[in-house]
Amino acid sequence: MAVHGWLLVISVLVIVTVSFASSKLQGVSQHNNVAASPHSICSGDFSFTKGYRCQDYDVITEDGYILKLWRFREGRTKESQWEGRKKQKQPVFIQHGVLMNGQCWFVVSHADQSLPLVLVEHGYDVWVSNSRGTTFSQRHISSNNLSLPANYWDFTWSEMASYDLPTFLNFVYLETGQKVHYIGHSQGTTMMFAAFSEWKVQERVKSATMVAPVVYLNHMPFGLVDVLAKAYIGEIAGSFGIPDLNIMTEPIGTIVRALCNVPGVDCFGWIVSLFTGMNCCMNASTVELWFGSQPQPTPIKNLVHWAQGVRKQVFGKYDYGDPATNLEHYGVPEPPPYNILKMPKDFPLFLIYGGGDLLAIRKDVHILLNKLGPDRNIRELYIDNYAHLDFLEAVNAKDLVYPDIISFMRGIR
Ligand SMILES: *[C@@H]1O[C@H](CO)[C@@H](O)[C@H](O)[C@H]1NC(C)=O
Ligand SMILES: *[C@@H]1O[C@H](CO)[C@@H](O)[C@H](O)[C@H]1NC(C)=O
Repeated sequence: MAVHGWLLVISVLVIVTVSFASSKLQGVSQHNNVAASPHSICSGDFSFTKGYRCQDYDVITEDGYILKLWRFREGRTKESQWEGRKKQKQPVFIQHGVLMNGQCWFVVSHADQSLPLVLVEHGYDVWVSNSRGTTFSQRHISSNNLSLPANYWDFTWSEMASYDLPTFLNFVYLETGQKVHYIGHSQGTTMMFAAFSEWKVQERVKSATMVAPVVYLNHMPFGLVDVLAKAYIGEIAGSFGIPDLNIMTEPIGTIVRALCNVPGVDCFGWIVSLFTGMNCCMNASTVELWFGSQPQPTPIKNLVHWAQGVRKQVFGKYDYGDPATNLEHYGVPEPPPYNILKMPKDFPLFLIYGGGDLLAIRKDVHILLNKLGPDRNIRELYIDNYAHLDFLEAVNAKDLVYPDIISFMRGIR
């Protein structure tokens, strides 16, 4: 590996270490504070939605998490208006990935580069979710004004699959009377594959577009996630009692912002690309926008769950580390694997992945395709120079990716 590559790894490790240390200094209780953030963004700040109107909804999961859902009902084209429509609009549900929230779909220069907004203009009724723990969904029925419940951060993507997703999708079903087309990115695809294992997703979902699908992590190269996984940093931080990881917590946010403001220093090249692969096609101005809302908090437990996927090369539930504790949680000594074959054979699936992606690696997507087996209803789109974030933020995704998603959805009755 080139010298500058090592410098990147070292600088990121320093940042992560300082981040953990600062979390430790600030104390855990402060970390459990309810974020002083607007909980209704649709009626307030229109800049993040590029001037498009949306509606806020709060949904409550079975385990008490209060989650924010945004709905974009209308755009500017005639096709996107409700008035005079003979048919109902088709709902689309859009699920973001790990360390992001629903805002990640809008971190672009122009409205026509944002997937949800493009879909609105094409006449879809678009719903954008925010997973538990992220800025607008950091609430719980048992929290008072000052603090979240002590065990708030005790979750991984497994809970998002078994609680958040059915709550969101039942809500959209009740509001619209229709099944959705699902679009997930990264962890948003993981959740969906896991969900099929647990409940009858096909009763709420017509098709799934899996963008940068992450299920098997067997070929993870020498990226940051791999470093973290191999170093067991999650477990180390967990044993310090730091429940969540918010890498934008001061003073880290200040350091990162300072770095990113130095002319000639490319934040994506240096920091984000180490996670995601070298994103080819993002506008430089998107960098600053991106750091305005991302990365988002997620529990250490979730990162440990991811690290377990890298180490053990299985797609399964969180491993509590000893048979007795697993027995307590699952009734069996080993964490149960998810069975992706529960997805019906004829379920329409669209896998979109890139050659530059360090998280959804091409070889691992092929493992997934092999495990799903032949005779399935699967469409594929492979883009050689795309990395993990290009699918959301690239200036040319509107030409290379979004039209294919629309044609895929239109082909489904
Ligand atoms: C919570 O905040 C609201 C509005 O600021 C206030 O009216 C209410 O009394 C507070 N409740 C508690 C339990 O502090
Ligand atoms: C890149 O960003 C700048 C500044 O926001 C904008 O003026 C320009 O149109 C953007 N270019 C593209 C291709 O989106």
